[in-house]
Amino acid sequence: MSLLIQEISASDAPMELLLLADPSEDKIRASLSGAKCFIAAHGAVVVGACVVQARGPDTYELMSIAVHPAHQRAGYGTALLQWVIDFFRDRGARQLEVGTGTFGYQLAFYQRQGFRVTRIDHDFFVAHYPEPIVEDGIQLVDMLRLTLRY
Ligand SMILES: CC(C)(COP(=O)(O)OP(=O)(O)OC[C@H]1O[C@@H](n2cnc3c(N)ncnc32)[C@H](O)[C@@H]1OP(=O)(O)O)[C@@H](O)C(=O)NCCC(=O)NCCS
Repeated sequence: MSLLIQEISASDAPMELLLLADPSEDKIRASLSGAKCFIAAHGAVVVGACVVQARGPDTYELMSIAVHPAHQRAGYGTALLQWVIDFFRDRGARQLEVGTGTFGYQLAFYQRQGFRVTRIDHDFFVAHYPEPIVEDGIQLVDMLRLTLRY
């Protein structure tokens, strides 16, 4: 069965999926305001979601992307990311940005699609979240800003 990717209203965004990418429901809700939301469905099951905000006439920011843990590493995240990259290319985007941690598989996930490191937001995760965020036993401190130039 193939993957169906479509845009949905941001008010229908699957919060339980987006919480996999950001522990703060408040931040997710804020990021949904005025955003475009995309979901990937396998049959009747929504397996992935992605939220993108416009940052200028030809610049967009990928606010979050997530795939349900039971469906990860099946290629859905890559398919959703590629679909979203193409969606904004078709609308005249010059660049797509994303913020992520300074370590972990997500860095390779984005760079495989052509994203490159363009900035470091030092102390971002400690300054913007009340609780420490720990992945792979390491506390997230700095945010890497990655940019895909079309
Ligand atoms: C990031 C995410 C969306 C990728 O979705 P996915 O469907 O698992 O991605 P793919 O199956 O296309 O995997 C692509 C590659 O990413 C890497 N990868 C994905 N999940 C991984 C994991 N849990 N551990 C290690 N590598 C992983 C692998 O290199 C994988 O390729 P491979 O399986 O051939 O080795 C998904 O893992 C996820 O929802 N993670 C939690 C939320 C998150 O971190 N979002 C990004 C915030 S910056």
